[in-house]
Amino acid sequence: MIALGADHGGFLLKEAIKAYFEKEGIAYRDYGTYSEDSVDYAPIAEQVARAVADQTAEKGILCCGTGIGISIAANKVRGIRAAVVVNAFCAQATRAHNDANILCMGGRVITEQEAVEFTKIFLATEFEGGRHQRRIDQIAAIERENL
Ligand code: RB5
Repeated sequence: MIALGADHGGFLLKEAIKAYFEKEGIAYRDYGTYSEDSVDYAPIAEQVARAVADQTAEKGILCCGTGIGISIAANKVRGIRAAVVVNAFCAQATRAHNDANILCMGGRVITEQEAVEFTKIFLATEFEGGRHQRRIDQIAAIERENL
């Protein structure tokens, strides 16, 4: 199951991703928001991040206006590596190198079509491990000492 969340700035991207998941039969849970009315992104980020951290969800996708605020909030949950992505290369690289477990995107930055394209790449790309695992371990050590 993929956990989806957005604030008003990312609502339309989330809806486009949901439509893609429906078409492809990909299991998801929508943690809101459910309209373009203004809402705060941090509580939505926390719910999606917790679902990923406790393995209720395999991966998460969070959208706000820029993808930045919602990623900062998600990264406060232990075990989360939430990455803001603005192109196909970053969508691939953040899985292959960072083992990112939440994809973050901005509704005021990219199109709905790009959001679906980056989602496909993110979900299809495996972590490469090797030297990148050492770097992930270093990030985890920082987290243990500071969060
Ligand atoms: C909301 O106006 C906006 O600040 C939010 O969607 C996001 O871009 C924050 O990083």
